[in-house]
Parts: sequence; C-alpha cells; structure tokens
Amino acid sequence: MSKIIVRGGNKLHGEVKISSAKNAVLPIMAACILSSDKCIIDDVPLLEDVFVISNILKSIGAEINIDKNSNKIVIDSSNIRDSMPDSELVKKMRASFLIMGPMISRFGHFKLSLPGGCNIGTRPIDLHLKGFNALRANIDVGHGYVEASVDKLIGNNIYLDFPSVGATENIMMAAVMAEGETIIENAAEEPEIADLGKFLNNMGASIIGAGSDTIRIIGVKELKGTTHNPINDRIECGTFMVAAAITRSKFKINRVNLEYLKPIIAKLTEAGVYIKPHGNSVIVDGNRDLKPIDVKTMPYPGFPTDMQSQITGLLATVTGTSIVTETIFENRFMHAAEMKRMGANIKIDGRSAVIEGVPRLTGAEVRATDLRAGAALILCGLAAEGETEISDIYHVDRGYVSIENKFKALGADIARVVN
Ligand code: EPU
Repeated sequence: MSKIIVRGGNKLHGEVKISSAKNAVLPIMAACILSSDKCIIDDVPLLEDVFVISNILKSIGAEINIDKNSNKIVIDSSNIRDSMPDSELVKKMRASFLIMGPMISRFGHFKLSLPGGCNIGTRPIDLHLKGFNALRANIDVGHGYVEASVDKLIGNNIYLDFPSVGATENIMMAAVMAEGETIIENAAEEPEIADLGKFLNNMGASIIGAGSDTIRIIGVKELKGTTHNPINDRIECGTFMVAAAITRSKFKINRVNLEYLKPIIAKLTEAGVYIKPHGNSVIVDGNRDLKPIDVKTMPYPGFPTDMQSQITGLLATVTGTSIVTETIFENRFMHAAEMKRMGANIKIDGRSAVIEGVPRLTGAEVRATDLRAGAALILCGLAAEGETEISDIYHVDRGYVSIENKFKALGADIARVVN
C-alpha cells in the first residue's frame, strides 16, 4: 500500500500540464463496445480506473492494446460476447455500470453484478434502469445482479428526475442504435457528456445537444470505428488551482479549457485568487489576501462536487467563516474529520460544513477516504507546518496521473512510500 509524505511550507512555482479527463475516457471506452471496428483513444490518462475498465472489457472478449509511451489505447470489440464480466472487477468501480447501455444495444441482453454504494454515498442506478426500461428493455434486479433483455430497443422521451451524469451517458449509449428518436430531458450537461456525444457522432451516431439539458438522438443502424482525443481534466486543473491558492503561490497551468472551469474560477476569484488566462493556459496567483466564501455543489454548470473537498481544505486556511454545502452526494464530508486532525476547524451540520479558517494547518497522519478527499489532504499537507502522511493513496491513483511527480516539479517536498 502506498503512502504520500508531504513536508509542507514550500512555495510552488513553474508550470504543470493537465492530463485528459478520466471521467471522459471511461464512458468513451465503454462506447467502443458499440462497433466491431477498432477505436483509438489518444492521450489517455494511464490511471487505475482506466485499467479497471480495460480489464472488464477484456473479460468479455475485447482486445485492448495500451501503449504506455504514447498513452494511446486501441480497443477492438469485434470479439466481445454477451457474457458476464468478472464481478470482482465490476465492484471495484461504479463506472463499470457504463458498459450496460452499450451491451444492451449490441446484444439485446446483458447481465452484470450490481454496483454497490461507495464511500461518498449510496449511489443508486434507478435512473439508468428507468431509461433502459423506457427504451423497452425488461429489467430484472435480484440476487446482487441486474439483467436487461430486449428484442429491439425503441426510442422514447425520457425525463430524468435528476441530471445524473452516468444515467445520461448510459441512456445515450443505449439509444444510439435504437429504432426511432430518443429525447433525454433534464439531462446532465457536464463537458464529459459533450465529449462522449462527439465520440459517438464520429462513430456515425446522430446526437444533437449532448452537453445541454435536452439531448436528441436519432437511432442509426450501425456505428464504425473512430479516433478520439479526449478533453482535458477540469477537476485535475481545479485541484492545481487550489494548490496555488492554499500554498499562497503563483504558477502556470497548461492544457486547460477555460469554458469548463468557469464555476471553479468564479469561486476562487470570489475568494481573492487571481487567475489570468493565457491561451490554453492560466496563471494562478494565490499569494494574496484571501477571503472566506460560501460554496454549494450543483450539477454542471454549478460548482462541481468533485472539487468540494479541495475547496474545503483551502477555506480551512482562510481567516473567517465559510460554508460549503454538498447537494450531490449524501456522504462526501469524510475528509473533514481528517482535516481536523491537521488543526482545521470544521463543523458538519447536515449537508453543510461550517469552516472557521485557522492561521496554520499542522502535519498529521491522515487517510484518503476517497479520490478527491485524498487529493484535498495532499493540498492541506502542502500548506501545513511539518510532515503530513496520507495513507490509502490508491484512491488518489484512481484519478490523478503521478500527482506526486507533478507537485515535485512545482517545487513541493513530496514523496511516495511503498510498503
Ligand atoms: N443518482 C441516483 N440514481 C441514479 C444515478 C444517480 O439517485 O440512477 C444520484 C447519485 O446517488 C448521486 C447523484 O445522483 O447522489 C449524482 O450521481 P451521478 O449519476 O451524476 O454521478 P456518477 O455518474 O455516478 C459521475 C462522476 C463522479 C462525479 C459525479 C457527479 C464518472 C465516472 N464519475 O458519477 O466522479 O462525482 O458524476 O458529478 O464520471 C470522481 O471523479 O471523483 C467522481 C466521483
């Protein structure tokens, strides 16, 4: 098990390059099931979650070639069969469920183990299943499995009770080859959904509006292979922006898309961080007099839940009272208890964290309770006095490409210990 050890207090400087978005790549890899032709995805972040979905696809017959030098993945789905993927692999990652939509589309049947809850919440899949059902699939849930069968998927109008990212993606992938038209209303609008829509359209799908709240899909007969360059990771970029702020440093972040970052930039600017766009880069200056702010997580284009723990860490170092409210997941404040071990003054009141900024965090032994919580604890460690040891770092490795090396290159005193 790996740990990360950070000796805080260094000012960060220089430049860092953002990787492609894991949350764009995972559904796109699932979408490769939809064609028997080869698909190529360039510039893939070689992360644990990408390897998990790759192994799941292999377990049902896909041939996958990952070139670790060029970060290119070639997926050949021609020999995929309607067989149950390894349950142990499926349970490792909730995004495994994203193969359901494409598998029903391709085979008219699929069975896999139910994804469980996870540290951040119960995360049901009812909206995915309602969507498949609206497309005429019969759904059978029992004994820890979910099974879908259909003679022919038929397009329909689907109104999502909540703009779920995964349900929007799964329904889109099920509907691309359904007969007739499907309209998804109250769809999730995340940039990763627009990227999936672009990938599917390049495969020959007919999708209008992916990335908006209404997505119109006209079913096509078949899809062909394509090559894709995924969008960059707005959450990784946001994490580095907060790193500049929490260490009161100034550095440059390269390969960013300002459009996707608007909700994060708005809140950091309100807190007094200076962010200067520079082509596809931004210069972030956190060496300023920062002010407390209130933040509420919302579906895109609101402030992302995946940045909630990082901004909570930052506000723990900003004098005054800030309130952070989590509206997406019911249990995403586990990092608060760990931050308190570092001297943070945070009180959880229902779905809100009331944060009284302290002049200084102090190094401690803490545990990454989930991916973003782990990243936030690294950020706190960078700002803290003394040494912080973050265990269960495998959570962080699911979503950040060599995080310690990127911080080391910015001048942080950070190291990974494998024991
Ligand atoms: N929900 C339901 N029913 C459903 C689906 C979702 O009630 O059928 C609820 C969930 O329980 C949750 C809320 O809706 O409370 C939002 O879930 P959503 O489906 O939007 O999230 P997801 O697709 O499971 C993706 C990201 C998450 C990110 C969320 C929200 C991927 C692979 N994962 O998850 O990323 O937090 O959207 O933006 O795209 C992360 O990267 O750290 C991460 C957790």
